[in-house]
Amino acid sequence: MVERHKPEAKRVGTARIELIDKRVELPIVEGSEHELGIDIRKLRKETGYITLDDAYTNTGSCSSDITFIDGEQGILQYRGYPIEAVAEQLTFPETAWLIIQGELPTRDELRGFSKMLTNKALLHEGLRHHFEGFPPDAPPMAVLSALINSVSCYHPELLEIGDEHHMLDAAASLISKVRTIAAFSYKKFHGEPIVYPDPSRNYCNNFLHMMFTLPFSSYEPIPEVERAMRLFLILHADHEQNCSTATARMVGSSGANLFAAVAAAVSALWGPLHGGANMRVIQLLQKIHNGEESIDSLVTRVKNKETLLWGFGHRVYKNFDPRTKLLKKSCDDVLRTLNKQDPLLDIARQLEEIAVNDEYFLERKLYPNVDFYSGILLRAIGIPLNMYTVMFAIGRMPGWIANWAESWRGGSRIYRPRQIYTGQKQRSILPLAQR
Ligand code: SDX
Repeated sequence: MVERHKPEAKRVGTARIELIDKRVELPIVEGSEHELGIDIRKLRKETGYITLDDAYTNTGSCSSDITFIDGEQGILQYRGYPIEAVAEQLTFPETAWLIIQGELPTRDELRGFSKMLTNKALLHEGLRHHFEGFPPDAPPMAVLSALINSVSCYHPELLEIGDEHHMLDAAASLISKVRTIAAFSYKKFHGEPIVYPDPSRNYCNNFLHMMFTLPFSSYEPIPEVERAMRLFLILHADHEQNCSTATARMVGSSGANLFAAVAAAVSALWGPLHGGANMRVIQLLQKIHNGEESIDSLVTRVKNKETLLWGFGHRVYKNFDPRTKLLKKSCDDVLRTLNKQDPLLDIARQLEEIAVNDEYFLERKLYPNVDFYSGILLRAIGIPLNMYTVMFAIGRMPGWIANWAESWRGGSRIYRPRQIYTGQKQRSILPLAQR
């Protein structure tokens, strides 16, 4: 069972800062992978100063034991295990357990957790009518966020999490039911009868079954497609303090329950600068394939700052994103097994080749990120475009839960950033008659 502690970096030195009217000494701290930071927790109390860091580019919001990223070396590790090894050797439930509990599950732990995931796959029948209330073209991320909060209304016992067993119960509910919500919304909006989860199927197979089985034909994914689904979810499972995970921590820090925190994280992920980029990439590639724009004209527009090159760039990776290489290989494997060609993959490759050899992108350290090839893999599996970010959310569920749990275990204080006020100085109200 996970010990309840608050991760702490160790003090290794002192930063001496000369301010206008005083100087201050602050601890320099070091993480287990030798990242260094200035601990400013006492800054305001001792000096009255705060720091200012738009978009938190230079600010660590917490110490965390969960995921390590080295953006310069292109390293990603879940609880110390390299993403390449996790992707190669673990199932998605094993990865989820590792990220949330901190250690690889024993055989018995994995058997018990898998059983929980199987038993919690159903939604309360009262929730089925929620899907009726959405228009057929409702954005799936809106449905997902709404249904996650709605699920908690049928499980009030999971709103107040008292101990680790309770947290695991809520975690298993979310990890399991997020698949069912996604599949049910897909079926409803495609006018097909919903398909209930099949307890004889594993996590990924069951999701694909709920998505693609029809009354007259049961869907049996070929092993390569199931492997690709597993890889996709594992590669998206956590990524330290990205926008949606930081949102989950922010919401959880007020004492809000896990479902509310995750529903908020879904909303943050929806944005095109974050999880919504995987859809923008495909739309971009499709435009080029349709002849609506040439690669050269796109690159020119990017350089003129008329558009972003979707799927490129990253706040942390200033080198390749290790997930991209694995996704790219999986695209090749799945398309070869299915004996399919995808012209968008060829265009993506051309675009990558041009960008990684172009000074404009090189000097800004812009490389393909996780979203650049992930959409092509989802296309090969048969997932519709408007569900790509939902798939990202299904993968990221363990990461959001683990970060909420780490904050809950550590008894974190409420997130409440400060600001530097730059508005009007105090003034009197002019009566309306005089305005
Ligand atoms: C994800 O944080 C995570 O870990 C996220 C994620 C995860 O697993 O959770 O990895 C998942 O969200 C990946 C990112 C998906 N988003 C996109 O692909 C959208 C396109 N990318 C950009 O919007 C951008 O690169 C961000 C949002 C990813 C990062 O933004 P930053 O760190 O704020 O970068 P920046 O704006 O400071 O850019 C520095 C320079 C700027 O040019 P200059 O002003 O110096 O001339 O690079 C340019 C930017 O204009 N730039 C781009 C670009 N990304 C940055 N120019 C063109 N196309 C791009 N994609």
